Amino acid sequence: MMKPSNVLMLGNFEATKALGQKLGQNLPEGSVLLLKGDLGAGKTTLVQGIGEGLGITDAIVSPTFTLINEYHQGRLPLYHLDLYRLEPEAVAGLYLEQYWEEGEALPGITAIEWPEKLPYLPLNYLEIQLSYSEGTGRQAILQPVGDFCVNLSQIVQPFL
Ligand SMILES: Nc1ncnc2c1ncn2[C@@H]1O[C@H](COP(=O)(O)OP(=O)(O)O)[C@@H](O)[C@H]1O
Ligand SMILES: [Mg+2]
Repeated sequence: MMKPSNVLMLGNFEATKALGQKLGQNLPEGSVLLLKGDLGAGKTTLVQGIGEGLGITDAIVSPTFTLINEYHQGRLPLYHLDLYRLEPEAVAGLYLEQYWEEGEALPGITAIEWPEKLPYLPLNYLEIQLSYSEGTGRQAILQPVGDFCVNLSQIVQPFL
């Protein structure tokens, strides 16, 4: 059976970084990425790759305690959120729509770890589900939602 083309194999840490770099190079402003997966699945690693792809030179560190880290040195702003420590009621008060609605924050790329905590979802986004796979690698399943209209086929090609 043919493997569905939205299932990617990330054999090592470098592959997760490389997928992130491709996304960082190609995603348009206003893109929202919802990053699902257990602790250690590679969500932050992927965002580090996105930062590199955007040309951000500052170190991208996990926003587990800061909640939101913003980077403005790249091709587009990067907003990196980690909602792990929050309850959905608390997330509702953060007014996160500012990151994806027009006329609010400078349009950039918004990457959200633990999006299960969001009380509401953006209309258009790319969901990336990371999981442990055989051996030491990871699997990523990409699911565009709404009219997230980026040509993913070119981005995912090296990872099929
Ligand atoms: N494709 C991969 N194969 C093996 N190890 C990986 C892969 N991607 C990331 N890792 C490693 O797994 C860990 C993931 O950590 P992190 O990215 O912080 O995960 P999360 O943010 O999902 O909790 C890091 O030690 C990283 O080096
Ligand atoms: Mg993380």
